[in-house]
Amino acid sequence: MDLRSDLLEARRLASEREYGVLLDGAKSRAVEPVRRFRIRGTLAEIEATDDRSARIVADGFRVALRDSFTAEQRATFERISERKSALQTDETEVTYSFHGPNDEGLTEDTYEGRRSTVTVSAFPHCPSRYGKLLTALLTQYHAPSVLELGTCLGTSAAYIGAGLDSGHLTTVEAGEPQVEIARETIAELGLEERVTVQHGLFQDVLLEDGTVPNFDVAFLDGHHQKDATLEYFDALYEFANGGAVIVFDDVNGYSEGMDEAWDEIRTDLRVDLSVSTNRIGLAVVKSSIVDPERFSLPY
Ligand SMILES: C[S@@+](CC[C@H](N)C(=O)[O-])C[C@H]1O[C@@H](n2cnc3c(N)ncnc32)[C@H](O)[C@@H]1O
Repeated sequence: MDLRSDLLEARRLASEREYGVLLDGAKSRAVEPVRRFRIRGTLAEIEATDDRSARIVADGFRVALRDSFTAEQRATFERISERKSALQTDETEVTYSFHGPNDEGLTEDTYEGRRSTVTVSAFPHCPSRYGKLLTALLTQYHAPSVLELGTCLGTSAAYIGAGLDSGHLTTVEAGEPQVEIARETIAELGLEERVTVQHGLFQDVLLEDGTVPNFDVAFLDGHHQKDATLEYFDALYEFANGGAVIVFDDVNGYSEGMDEAWDEIRTDLRVDLSVSTNRIGLAVVKSSIVDPERFSLPY
């Protein structure tokens, strides 16, 4: 917004006695530069760690904040938004086995899943703010191998795919309708060469058979429960290549258990550098960093 439109909007709100909205707008405009200043300072500290993965993480945040994506990536973002909108208004009913969180962690019940019928519109999607951050991180990393646990309808997989050059993403999902729709999402966006949707349970592919590939970047976004998340972290650590970045979704404010899980992970001595945001957590492992570093960003 330029100053003129700002003033016109302020006058309109004042004339309609919308003083609350007016104050909120003024407050957020005053707070935003402070927020960006704090983020820039923290990114400089992360970079000073002088490790390749640390620099990649800092640069990933910078690209996302400056919105400096390529024309091709912007076009893909546009198409991801269109696909997401279509799915969010799709009232087709689908029946699937819900393997998601329960209070007990990796139980038999979670393994078998509970049959549930929902409409396609009810499935969750990655918000564009964090999706673009994933694209930016991958663009900086040039990762040969990427792993995602929790595909759902393929939105975050598409954002990850948009950041890959010669690398490949394997994304794992247990729900049959989700797998089918996610494969359509990936095909519609022309990302089949870069993304494989694998049908399976995290417990099987990660803990039992160990059929997931070793990875440079991983995104864990499913089965949001404390004990399960900690077990998946242990297993993911074994599959991580040197300097890998493991991204955890929903570790701030989603649930007490997820906050606690992230607190244990970010302070775990196997994690060389961690970055906590308002929603996700990033953990760098097996890097050149000798003294663990912990950061937090209002992102
Ligand atoms: C939050 S959604 C993923 C959203 C997706 N990453 C996105 O941002 O577009 C979580 C998905 O994980 C799947 N899931 C949960 N627990 C699982 C498990 N133990 N094994 C396999 N899939 C699981 C669910 O079926 C669900 O589709």
